[in-house]
Amino acid sequence: MGETASVAGLEGVVAAETRLSEVNGRSGEFTIAGFPVEELAPRATFEETVYLLWHARLPDAEELAGFREALAVRRGLPEGIVRLLRSAAVAGVPAMDALRAAVGALGVEETDGAEDARSIVARFPTIVAAYRRLLDGEEPVDPDPGLGHAANYLYMLWGERPQEGAVRALETYMNTVVDHGMNASTFAARVIVSTGSDMVSAVAGAVGALKGPLHGGAPGPALEVVFEVGSAGRAEEVLRSKLERGERLMGFGHRIYKVRDPRADVLAGAAEVLYGSGGDRGIYELALEVERTALRLLEEYKPGRNLKTNVEFYTALLLHGLGLPAGLFTPTFATARVAGWTAHCMEQRKLGRLIRPQSVYVGERGKKWVPLEKR
Ligand code: COA
Repeated sequence: MGETASVAGLEGVVAAETRLSEVNGRSGEFTIAGFPVEELAPRATFEETVYLLWHARLPDAEELAGFREALAVRRGLPEGIVRLLRSAAVAGVPAMDALRAAVGALGVEETDGAEDARSIVARFPTIVAAYRRLLDGEEPVDPDPGLGHAANYLYMLWGERPQEGAVRALETYMNTVVDHGMNASTFAARVIVSTGSDMVSAVAGAVGALKGPLHGGAPGPALEVVFEVGSAGRAEEVLRSKLERGERLMGFGHRIYKVRDPRADVLAGAAEVLYGSGGDRGIYELALEVERTALRLLEEYKPGRNLKTNVEFYTALLLHGLGLPAGLFTPTFATARVAGWTAHCMEQRKLGRLIRPQSVYVGERGKKWVPLEKR
């Protein structure tokens, strides 16, 4: 196989057919199971989006009630997982590492994967919220069976029933990022189930992939820039000096989208509504000024590169508006994306084909064995 060319990042390599989502980077369109993101995300509950991904259609009222119930009864954590989270919190383990460990410790029930998918998706927010509270020296809050999936996440974090507007904003965010083509964590999950392994292993691997700063880690730094700017009058000075030093502006540019990331528009709309109904209006206005200045300066410093606002910029603003600290941004992303991972696992399992690419050997050949005493 000596002549096969390799593509280091697999760019442009089509690794699967999927009915789950399509990213069109040239037209700036993003489709989730048939729906444009801007059509689905601001309207659906998170349960409806998960059902859509798993069943390729929206549920009717009865199916939705049954599905909400199926998640509600699985939302609580086994005692062993709570113990694991307690000791991780004592050791100060970062949240994504604690999430990966807790997911890995979930039992594999495994029939066709559907049962595991329900348990995993139901428990993700419970794990993240419990761990955040333990890190803060507080006791976990049990889920409330009367609340939906997104509302429960906020309830288990703060111990208070959230406002409707906050739940709507979180559901819009979770729907927007639930899936996104063949991204790195999704690919990792598909590779794992393609070997015949179970969904718990696949999701634990996907959490590991999402943890990396090139995948799920940008919203924190995007917000830091807004805080660093501090006041509208300083935006130009701060951003210009970053670009002069050759630094990248976090929250701008995308490997696939060469026009504005359509998810940014959906989240910008949700942020406008959220901040319009209260919260830190000052930081919202400042973020808009940082965005306007960044787009102008990126065009000046990198003409023709089409560097536009990406999903992370408005993710940061929206999650901050919901009162989430930056340390919860990536774990919150995981609580949404896990639905996409499980859907891809089911799709891959139906396909039943081992993912096993090739590599090109570029090392030496024909070497002679040297005994230990002569090396
Ligand atoms: N700020 C400043 N310059 C940027 C930039 C940014 N955010 N993103 C890209 N560029 C520059 C590159 O340095 C490069 O400049 P050059 O042509 O002078 O060498 C040019 O724009 C083209 O970049 P490209 O190679 O097409 O980008 P990429 O595909 O390697 O990178 C990202 C995509 C997302 C990694 C990149 O845009 C980035 O680092 N953005 C900031 C981090 C971020 O927001 N990540 C979350 C993504 S959802």
